[in-house]
Amino acid sequence: FRGPIIFAPAMDEGMYRNEIFRENLNKLKNKGYHIIPPDKGILASGKIGEGRFPAVEEVIKYVGSILSGKPARRDFSGGEDFKGIKVLITAGGTREFLDPVRFIGNASSGKMGYALAEAARERGADVKLITTPVSLPKPNGFEMINVVTASQMQDAVIKNFASTDVLIMAAAVGDFRPKTFAKEKRKRNQGKWDIELVPNPDILAEVAKIKKGEITVGFSIETQNQIKQAKEKLNKKNLDLIVANDITVKKSGFCSDTNKAVLIDKKGKTEKLPLISKRELADIILDRIQNIGRRKWERKK
Ligand code: C5P
Repeated sequence: FRGPIIFAPAMDEGMYRNEIFRENLNKLKNKGYHIIPPDKGILASGKIGEGRFPAVEEVIKYVGSILSGKPARRDFSGGEDFKGIKVLITAGGTREFLDPVRFIGNASSGKMGYALAEAARERGADVKLITTPVSLPKPNGFEMINVVTASQMQDAVIKNFASTDVLIMAAAVGDFRPKTFAKEKRKRNQGKWDIELVPNPDILAEVAKIKKGEITVGFSIETQNQIKQAKEKLNKKNLDLIVANDITVKKSGFCSDTNKAVLIDKKGKTEKLPLISKRELADIILDRIQNIGRRKWERKK
C-alpha cells in the first residue's frame, strides 16, 4: 500500500508510557507513519490516564488533515510544550434572553475556541473551556464549564482567572442585554415590542484590573480600520496578544472552518497570516503565547 498509513494506538497508560513501546512508536514515526495520540480519561482497567481511543470525530478530522496534506499538529516528541501550563479558554456566542424562548445572540460557532482548546490539550496544557451552547461535538480530555449569558461567562472567567496562566477570550460576548426579561412568552397580539438594551460589562476590561503575570489574549472583529481598532483594544484591555479576524474575505470569521487573521502583540509587532484552518491558526496563536510565556514558565518550573 503506497498511501499514508495512520496508527491510532490505544492501551493502558502503563503500557503507553513504556519505554520499549515509545521506542517502537518513534521508529514508526521516523519511517513516516502517522500516529494519532490517544486521549486522557477512564481506561478499560478503570484507571484514569492517557491511552483512551480518541473520539471518532477526532480520528476522522486527523485522517482528513493528512489526506489534505496538512497534518494536524498532534505530536509526541516536543509536542508537549504546554505541559503544566493552565489555559482558560472561552468559546461560542453568549445569549441574552428576552423571554423564556427568545434571545439576542450572535453568529459565533465556537469553532475557534474549540480548536484552541483541542490544540492546547494536545500540547500538554491543563485546559478549561468555558463554552456557550454550540453545535460542535463535545471534545474530550478537559474540563468544560457551560454558560449562556455574558454575565455567567464573566462569573466563570473571574472565578477561574486566579488559577490560570493563560486566558484566551475567543468567545463573542454580547455587548448588550435586554433591560427587562418577560417571564411569560410574549404574544404577537400584544403588538409592537420595543426592546431597551443596556451594555454588558467588558469581561477582558474587568480581567485587566486583576491581572498580574497572566497572559491574556483577545479577539477582534471589525468591519473597518481592523488593525487600528485591534491595537486600541489591545491597549485598553491590557492584552499580551490580539487576533484581528478579517470578516471581509470569504471563508473567514464566523462559522467557517478557516480564518484570515492578523496577530498583534504588546510591542506592536503585526503578523498578517494567510487564510488557514482554525486549527492551524490555533497552533500559531499557541506558538506566540509560548514565546511570550516561556521565560516566565521556566522560572516557575
Ligand atoms: O471590544 P470588543 O468586544 O470588540 O473586543 C473583543 C474581545 O473582547 C474578545 O476577545 C471578546 O471575547 C472580549 N469581550 C469581553 N467582554 C465583552 C465583549 C468582548 O471580554 N463584553
